Amino acid sequence: MVINHNKPNMKKTFKSGVCLLLCSLMLLSCKDEKKSDMPETAETKTKSTIVKSDYATTKEGVKIDKYTLTNANGMKMEVITMGGDIISLTAPDKNGKFEDIVLGYTTPDLYLEGNPYFFGAIIGRYGNRIAKGKFTLDGKPYQLTVNDGPNSLHGGKGFDKRVWAATAIEGDAPSIKLTYTAKDGEEGYPGNLKVTVTYVLSNDNALEISYEAESDKNTVVNLTQHSYFNLSGNFAESIEGQELELKAGKYLPVDATLIPTGELKSVTGTPFDFTKAKVIGKDINLADDQLKKGQGYDHCWIFDDAANTMKSVGGVYHKASGRYMEVLTTEPAIQFYSGNFIDGTKDSKTGGKYQKRSGLCLETQHYPDSPNQPSFPTTTLKAGEKYSTKTTYKFSVK
Ligand code: BGC
Repeated sequence: MVINHNKPNMKKTFKSGVCLLLCSLMLLSCKDEKKSDMPETAETKTKSTIVKSDYATTKEGVKIDKYTLTNANGMKMEVITMGGDIISLTAPDKNGKFEDIVLGYTTPDLYLEGNPYFFGAIIGRYGNRIAKGKFTLDGKPYQLTVNDGPNSLHGGKGFDKRVWAATAIEGDAPSIKLTYTAKDGEEGYPGNLKVTVTYVLSNDNALEISYEAESDKNTVVNLTQHSYFNLSGNFAESIEGQELELKAGKYLPVDATLIPTGELKSVTGTPFDFTKAKVIGKDINLADDQLKKGQGYDHCWIFDDAANTMKSVGGVYHKASGRYMEVLTTEPAIQFYSGNFIDGTKDSKTGGKYQKRSGLCLETQHYPDSPNQPSFPTTTLKAGEKYSTKTTYKFSVK
């Protein structure tokens, strides 16, 4: 693997950056020397690379970098340090044609100024909703930022709106490690929480994500990733035509504000049954109270296999292109969100505007509102303990 860093914009950074640049060049030349000794394997079609470049600067003057990861097969992913957002990800179709299969904005400003749809973002400190933004831990009540009707969604001003520190990691496959430390009291949560998220673009065409965290006080944590996939590569084509399978015999019905009622309901005989691959649009418009509440699918499914180990939990298939994305995770549940609240106001990378159901999210996670629902598996992270989960989105064709 070669690590190339683009030359920074000299005009902008000349005064403050000369020393940094010289140091970086010295370091990089060491890396390149070391790498040039490495033999290339016969099956490697191209060298995997990571290229760092300037992306944009926030209104407050913070520089946001972009890392472009390319694996040995030519699959490419762009990640920015704002929110750890994945702003593009290509995958080959059955004819070997690479297309971008994740939604993203066409200009940096929407990523920098709030990312209204959470496109491609790392989500935390608590992914999904906490009722009324309140919970009690160790007998102490906490009030979080409320940002979704009466509830707290995705951590308030969460990890998607924070600038992460990034390090490119050497190895067979291109990889990037992102770190962010949330402060004690940030958005109302207790504990300084150090978070590390690593993206690997493996040479078997998988996006492997590891989440790690540690706090200095007892806290609650539920980390996930908010990429919107559309395997057609054409974002004007609704995801309703794609097939979904979820190895989950139960889901969590919600109230009018999308907080789980506490019931674990069987999917059998309901529109929520994806235990066998089913076209997403088949039941999505049925007159079902739960579908009405979510304006489509926006619910948490509970995997049959509750093991805290890596397991295949389902996947999405787009017949015309042949693209298939399998999901594997150590997590117990997944929020399948069918992009119901995309409102036709933002430009699409493939032309026109993003519409309702232009993309879907498969957010592996613990159950929503767990801090208030003692019957759900705990999301408490004790001081000094290690939070560690993994999720893989693996791409192939069939
Ligand atoms: C939630 C949706 C929400 C969306 C925001 C999803 O994770 O389940 O209800 O509207 O995030 O993009």
